[in-house]
Amino acid sequence: MIVYLNGRFVPREDAHISPDDRGFLFADAIYEVVRFGAGRPYRLAEHLERMRDGLTAIRIPADPSFLPAVASRLLAENRLESDDVLVYAQVSRGAAPRYHAFPPEGTPPTIFVYARVTDPLPPPGEGRAILVPDERWGRCDIKSVMLLPNVLASQRAREAGAIEAILVKDGVAWEGTKANLFAYAGGAVRTAPRGPRILPGVTRGAALEAAGALGLRIEERPLPVEELFSADEVFLASTTLWTYSLTEIDGRRIGDGGPGPVATRIREALQTEFRGETVSV
Ligand code: PDD
Repeated sequence: MIVYLNGRFVPREDAHISPDDRGFLFADAIYEVVRFGAGRPYRLAEHLERMRDGLTAIRIPADPSFLPAVASRLLAENRLESDDVLVYAQVSRGAAPRYHAFPPEGTPPTIFVYARVTDPLPPPGEGRAILVPDERWGRCDIKSVMLLPNVLASQRAREAGAIEAILVKDGVAWEGTKANLFAYAGGAVRTAPRGPRILPGVTRGAALEAAGALGLRIEERPLPVEELFSADEVFLASTTLWTYSLTEIDGRRIGDGGPGPVATRIREALQTEFRGETVSV
């Protein structure tokens, strides 16, 4: 596999990152995940905008405009132009002696990008999830690599035979460890509003647009946990899953216990858009 590290395309085994890298020492880094299909990106502009917002918020002096050309070359180098691919971009504040405050001005950020074929989606009807306390920091809108609470919650889900953990704080089901959370009830598609408690998912935005185009009412507001259990449908939304119905949460059946028609229609709308999108790299 050929990867990109700090301006060079190298075999993965030759990509070395310093032990002094601030991503390693302090999780002082952000990341982004973009889907490509047959060489075409899905909503790349939104991913770049979120990356720019994250870099600005944590004051890493890097411009995400490197990504389109790097991703394009990685697909070519790895012969992935006809596959369904995820491109991961990791940007840290760079390597420097260990002091908490920022390194000297001019310290170059570390930029690592790689592409890999997507994992198969979980089969429909396998959507078991568990509820887990949301122990993350106060800026979940930044796509930080500081993912330890997500890692621990995700492992609890795995050990419970579930595909996702739903993060709960103040009685609200905010999102999953790696996906946004939606409910459909009373004819309305509901999801938490943008703000510091959730990542503003690119798929979330696309799903809301699709729901609007399908003539469904949209309510962006916090979802109290109890609402999940009375909803007709509950589903996840992310770059990796599109939309994916949850059928059981903490052992309790959701809706009729099968994949929901609204989640399915939204997923079809997103995938249709994806197949039709023109090359913009
Ligand atoms: N996760 N919420 C969280 C906490 C996430 O980590 C993600 C994405 C999302 C959905 O965002 P998007 O639709 O832009 O992918 C919501 C990525 C896929 C990951 O960590 O692998």
